[in-house]
Amino acid sequence: MTAGAAISRRALLAAGAAFGVGGTLMPARTGLARVPAAFEPTQRLSLAAGEMELRLLGPDKPATRIYAYDGDPFRLVRVPRGTRLEARFENRLPEASTVHFHGIRMPNEYDGVPTLTQPVVQPGGSFTYRIPLDDPGTFFFHPHCDETGQSGRGLVGVLLVEDPRDPAFDAEHVLCLKDWRLDDQGGFLPMSEPDGAAKAGTFGATRTVNGRAHLDLAAPAGGDVRLRILNVDSTRIMDIGVEGAEAWLIAIDGHALPPVPMDSLPDGIWRMGPAQRIDVQVRMPAHGGPVTIGDYRASDIFTFATLVAAGQARRPRRKGPLALPPPKLPLPDLKTAEFHSFTLQQATDAAVKDTGLLPDDPLAKALIDSLCVGSTTYWSIAQQSWPTGEARHLPPPLARMEAGKSYRIEIKNETRYPHPVHLHGHAFAVLGSSKGRLPKHFADTVLTQPGEAVEIAFVAAPGDWVFHCHILEHMETGMMGWFRVV
Ligand code: C2O
Ligand code: CU
Repeated sequence: MTAGAAISRRALLAAGAAFGVGGTLMPARTGLARVPAAFEPTQRLSLAAGEMELRLLGPDKPATRIYAYDGDPFRLVRVPRGTRLEARFENRLPEASTVHFHGIRMPNEYDGVPTLTQPVVQPGGSFTYRIPLDDPGTFFFHPHCDETGQSGRGLVGVLLVEDPRDPAFDAEHVLCLKDWRLDDQGGFLPMSEPDGAAKAGTFGATRTVNGRAHLDLAAPAGGDVRLRILNVDSTRIMDIGVEGAEAWLIAIDGHALPPVPMDSLPDGIWRMGPAQRIDVQVRMPAHGGPVTIGDYRASDIFTFATLVAAGQARRPRRKGPLALPPPKLPLPDLKTAEFHSFTLQQATDAAVKDTGLLPDDPLAKALIDSLCVGSTTYWSIAQQSWPTGEARHLPPPLARMEAGKSYRIEIKNETRYPHPVHLHGHAFAVLGSSKGRLPKHFADTVLTQPGEAVEIAFVAAPGDWVFHCHILEHMETGMMGWFRVV
């Protein structure tokens, strides 16, 4: 069976479910005769997306109607490693949505990608996600439908999977960095402008951390502080640096790495694109500080947090960093790995051509209407673009892979802008960069600079997994493809 036939059949079945025509929710997976493993939830979560008011411009300024999960901006979910999470998503937004648990290795059917893995959840609808959480770390979740609009309005949650083997820190703080596109009355400006979408993205001018302009955080003098820093912005690339204390990078995208002194990094900063996370250990000075944490990328430095001493650390001052236990992830076999190379490009006419994969069926059309994408194509991967606007045909997969086999993927950025590239459902090893700027580490998103080639490797997990730029406007104007792993 060709991919096209398989997709249209699945699309039709899924559409049937989405519009109340069919019986079962998910179509049987073609070519995947897998019996789903028994899932015994150990924790249940209800996750309702809706609107709420938040004073983003300041306490005396008009409030903004944002989107949030459970009326709690950047809702924090903290669970122990090994949790079997059953999350019932309820859509109380005026538009369709889904939930994607970013960076989590999980069964494909709960990955939250409209068309590919599930029908969209219409307003008033619900969907239950069953997510095994075996990898400890700092993760997040967000919609995968009109993400520029919905995440732009604040719809993001934080998922912390805790490892009981972690060393004891004296304090821990979660820092969610996100800018907002606001007018001076607290209303939203258009989330995307053509000039942004086709270039570096459309930036918000109201910069916040956890929805505030700045945070003063308490930490004992001489103590060890764990900062979990998440770039949940739609667009902005940030250069994170710490001043006034010794600090180490101890995890990237949730996954531990041997601690890297922040001082040893070029310019003393870690460059982080949308969707990327870092855990940083800060050792508070014995006299208390203060210590500042900022984004040094623009000349106008955004100092988003200050650590101020509150009391004295109880344990004696330690020497050297506190390493987190090494991640337990499938290790790709680089000797046998199959090699693929994908180039990120500005879209050409050839890239947006009609691939003719879907029949002109009203049911299929209704589903494709809910592909949740932008109206124009500006970008491509390997000369293919995810459908936008009137071009509503799912392209064939960028690659067909075999479950359990190792793959080495080169991502070549031939554009004039940086792109943080994300692969769903996997933690990949970042092997290196043509610019030699990256330490070896595991990640789910990797930043590629203009003219740079980055190599990653992973063991393929079964499913249809999207591979896209996490600058949301880029993804929604074509820079998204998918791998089929069987
Ligand atoms: Cu956070 Cu498709 O990704
Ligand atoms: Cu991009």
